[in-house]
Amino acid sequence: MNLSPATIDRIENTIPKYPDKRSAVMMLLHYIQDEQGYISNQAIEWVAEKLDMQPINVLSVVTFFPYYRQEDQKIGKVHVRVCRTLSCAMRGAYKVGDELSKKFGCKVGHSTEDGNVTLEYAECLAACGTGPVVLVDEDLYENIEANKLSGLIDEIERRVSAPEEATA
Ligand code: FES
Repeated sequence: MNLSPATIDRIENTIPKYPDKRSAVMMLLHYIQDEQGYISNQAIEWVAEKLDMQPINVLSVVTFFPYYRQEDQKIGKVHVRVCRTLSCAMRGAYKVGDELSKKFGCKVGHSTEDGNVTLEYAECLAACGTGPVVLVDEDLYENIEANKLSGLIDEIERRVSAPEEATA
């Protein structure tokens, strides 16, 4: 398992905090997904061995919580999340999702074939007064109107063509 020293440190520091080390399973998976973007089968086996668990029990955690992603769900270079909770939904969030879906040629909940963009709906992003809001990677864009998406689309395209380290 190829993890950075920083992630290994996080893992080694976390396990002793739990009286039963198996309770650290969610944190370990969280750290690995933070670094690798998804949970591979190899990661499942590695975590199982680290915590004296059966791989099937680690897999069941990964599949139960939508937060965790397996390899076929890995995030594209640019992660676009449209809030669809009530305030944003009432202000046109689904229309925004539809327009972005048309523009990038992928359904919401999927990635483009080239892996450049992942488009998803998200639940409340804590900016209900300025909806609809869209999270592009970790940056929030507010008051996004479906018929005025060109600025947001330009920003997504800029991130797609930016060098990897400049996209954050
Ligand atoms: S409902 Fe969209 S940010 Fe709260």
